[in-house]
Parts: sequence; C-alpha cells; structure tokens
Amino acid sequence: MQVSLGQIDHLAEIIRSRVRQKPRIGIILGTGLGGLADTVQAATIIPYQELPDWPVSTVVGHTGRLVSGELEGQPLLVMQGRLHFYEGYSMAQVTMPVRVMGRLGIEILIVTNAAGAINPDYLPGDVMLISDHLNLTGMAGLNPLIGPNLDELGPRFPDMSQAYDRELSALARRAAAENSIQLHTGIYVGLSGPSFETPADLRFLRLAGADAVGMSTVPEVTVARHSGTRVLGFSGISNKANLDGNTATSHEEVLEAGRVLTPKLETILRGVLRHL
Ligand code: HPA
Repeated sequence: MQVSLGQIDHLAEIIRSRVRQKPRIGIILGTGLGGLADTVQAATIIPYQELPDWPVSTVVGHTGRLVSGELEGQPLLVMQGRLHFYEGYSMAQVTMPVRVMGRLGIEILIVTNAAGAINPDYLPGDVMLISDHLNLTGMAGLNPLIGPNLDELGPRFPDMSQAYDRELSALARRAAAENSIQLHTGIYVGLSGPSFETPADLRFLRLAGADAVGMSTVPEVTVARHSGTRVLGFSGISNKANLDGNTATSHEEVLEAGRVLTPKLETILRGVLRHL
C-alpha cells in the first residue's frame, strides 16, 4: 500500500494541532526500549489509535504512542513503539511516521533498535553506534522508496553515502566517553524477520561485514535520508547471534536486555541533546 502526500500532511496537521512545540528531533524507540519516553518533560501523549490510518504496533514491547515534549531543553517527538514490515504493513506504511515527522519539521532522527550481536566482541547489554547499514531487504526489492517518487519530499535517487551523520555520531561517542559507557561502532544489517536467523544466515551476514542484526531501522533511515533529515542510530545488543547453532534466540531475552540498555541509552541520548 502506497501513502500519499495528502495523507502524510493530514496526519502532520492533526499532530501539530495537539502538541505545544514544533519538534526539532524525532526519536524512534526499539523493542524493549520504550521506557526512554518516560523521561520526556512536559509530555503530550497521543496514542496511535487516535491518529487516522496510523499503523498500530502489534508487537509485545512496543507501546504504540507518540510522546511530544522536551529532553535537555530540546523539543522532540518520540515514537514509543515502531512498526515492522513483518507485521504485515507495507514498507510505505512502516515508514509513514518518518514522513510525518519530516513534515512536522524535524531536523534530526534518532533511531534505536534491539539487535543480535554478530560481532563476537559484543555482549548482551552493550550499545553499538550504527556507522552504516546493510540494506538486505532493499537489495531484495523491498526498498521503501519503490513506487512513484514524492518529488516534494526528495529526489528519485537519493544519496546514501553518509546515511548516519558523522557529527552526531561524534557527539554520541563524546557523551558515552564522558559517562564511561562502552560504545561499540559497527554495521547494522536489516532483515525482514520475523523468524530469527539460521546459523548459516548468520555466517553469511558476518562475511558480508555485519556487526549486529535486526528487523527494523533500515527502511526508516532510508526515508529520512530521502528528505535530507540527519540520522543518528543505536543498536542495543540484546543477544549473541547463534553462529554455531547451539543456543536458541527468544523475544523474551530481547525484552530483558532492554531493561539494562535503557539507562545507558538515556545517558548517551541526553549527552547528545545537551551538546547539540
Ligand atoms: N536477530 C534479529 N533481530 C533481532 C535479534 C536477532 O538476533 N535480536 C533482536 N532483534
């Protein structure tokens, strides 16, 4: 299903009429990381159900509401709960919230996700700054920009040479260092899910250069870059990818790791927002 500029602007207008401030920053919270939204000050909360045609997340660990307010003096709009392609939504629907945030005027999109560690040095509870991604879903024909180009929003063939903003990434490294939080830097590979990877999948992804694997983020970042929005991305490592086939991966361990990851990510995010 395609999404029209009219639908996007209609949603932007509804949200604009309900929030007190124009957001400068959009934040998408990944599986198990929704608690980050609770720290937003002067919050206005809009449940997704109150927004016409807004896809509602069906996944445990995703609340499903927009939180508008301030953190470290920066006006922001937080998506507490994201949509995934595996829920059955089209790529256009999955990325529609990013379009709406763009029309609301955000300059920066901060994406977070839960991911499995392919890099053997990463442990559950670690945080990875995303330096680049492998768009495997896009390579397989599921790029969210497929279809008529919305020329008002961006070019037909957008550049992806610096998908993740270097200046913002430097701020994240500084914030982590100031707070003695270990921050890996690596490549995120986006798959459709919902089944976790086989050991052969994981060996292939490792050979391709991936450090962490997940089922989100890449479509949202692609759409944000289409419109020139600056992007900062973090993976919260929730589990070790099972390259040898001897241990199972479960959604429960992904949620459990979120509890360790949330305070670390909050500290890094606050540091970035302070230094902006
Ligand atoms: N694989 C894919 N997606 C994930 C994983 C994983 O191991 N952990 C959290 N999201």
